[in-house]
Amino acid sequence: MSIKGKFVTLRQMSRGDMQMICDMFNDPELEDLVVGWAFPLSIEQQQQWFEKNLSDNRNFRFVIETPEDGAVGIATLIDIDWKNRRAAHGIKLANVERRTKGIGTDAVMAIMRYAFDELGLHRLDGSWFDFNDASKRLYTKCGWKAEGVKREYVYKRGAWRDLTVVGVLECDYRKLVEKNGYWRQSVNNPMVVMGVYIQIVDFRLFAYLYSNNHALAA
Ligand SMILES: CC(C)(COP(=O)(O)OP(=O)(O)OC[C@H]1O[C@@H](n2cnc3c(N)ncnc32)[C@H](O)[C@@H]1OP(=O)(O)O)[C@@H](O)C(=O)NCCC(=O)NCCS
Repeated sequence: MSIKGKFVTLRQMSRGDMQMICDMFNDPELEDLVVGWAFPLSIEQQQQWFEKNLSDNRNFRFVIETPEDGAVGIATLIDIDWKNRRAAHGIKLANVERRTKGIGTDAVMAIMRYAFDELGLHRLDGSWFDFNDASKRLYTKCGWKAEGVKREYVYKRGAWRDLTVVGVLECDYRKLVEKNGYWRQSVNNPMVVMGVYIQIVDFRLFAYLYSNNHALAA
């Protein structure tokens, strides 16, 4: 089953995605924003990794697709702890031009819905660097909370960086969707499409009656 957001789809990775993923790991700008290891990676290593991890049921890495552009990035649910019902999550969009268009929000909302409503998880863990405004804004908007700082946790570009650990509980997610009605506005939802259709018909009928009345009164 693919995971649906309002407009993104999160699907299982396949061999054909390895070039995009390899390119993301080799992109210095992208790697600077995430915790990753920053070793140069060959396509052969990437393919080997894929073959090795094909049937791993504790680490899911999904490809984010949009209807216009196909595969645009990845979103993960990894280190799943089935007993304590938690997992770690991360997200990367491959191309700078695709950012700030709501893809990140829709993908994180879809990941949370899948984690809490399908897998029965109780919390998700993540992290951000303090200078990563996109990440801070994205996760804050999606109901995640900063829970602490791991001091000098990551060494990159010749300096130690603090890492803020963040998390979201199932109840945070439920409060958020109750408040912002995220899924109620979904265009994928047939009930919403039907509702919009009825409203359009209503409006047309109203406009027709109004113009007729107006014509009669004139
Ligand atoms: C983080 C990332 C996934 C966000 O995805 P996105 O599709 O750009 O996010 P959205 O368009 O849904 O934006 C989410 C919110 O963040 C804000 N935002 C996005 N980029 C921003 C930036 N560079 N600076 C400040 N705010 C930003 C948006 O305005 C939006 O807030 P709003 O709805 O209040 O306006 C994307 O920037 C990315 O892939 N970055 C590189 C990898 C990365 O940093 N991953 C996260 C590691 S923790």
